[in-house]
Amino acid sequence: MIALGSDHAGLELKKALMEYLDGKGLEYRDYGTFSADSCDYPVYAKAAAQAVASGECDRGILVCGTGAGMAISANKIRGIRCACCSDCFTAEMVRRHNDANMLSLGQRVVGVGLALKIAETFLTTEFEGGRHARRVGLISELEQL
Ligand code: RB5
Repeated sequence: MIALGSDHAGLELKKALMEYLDGKGLEYRDYGTFSADSCDYPVYAKAAAQAVASGECDRGILVCGTGAGMAISANKIRGIRCACCSDCFTAEMVRRHNDANMLSLGQRVVGVGLALKIAETFLTTEFEGGRHARRVGLISELEQL
């Protein structure tokens, strides 16, 4: 199950992601926003990130204008490793090395075609473990500070 969230500035790309996930037969839950009215991205980042952190969803994808506000907000939730990506190489590496469990995208930064490719890369790449697991463990320790 994939958690989705956006603000008004990410709504159209989130709709494109839903269409893409429907086409792939992948299940998702939309944690809002549901309209184009101006809203506050931390509200939706929190809802989707909590769904991932609790295990209700396996991964999450967030969209705002830049992807930055969503990532900053989601990373405040314990257990969340959200990476803002605008290229496929980074999307691949944040899975392989950082075990990122959320992706954030900027609707005002990347075109729809690239965004879908980034999402596909994020959803299909596995964590390598090994020495990277130690480093991810060290990231988790930072949550105690
Ligand atoms: C909304 O205008 C914009 O600030 C928001 O979508 C996002 O880009 C924040 O990081």
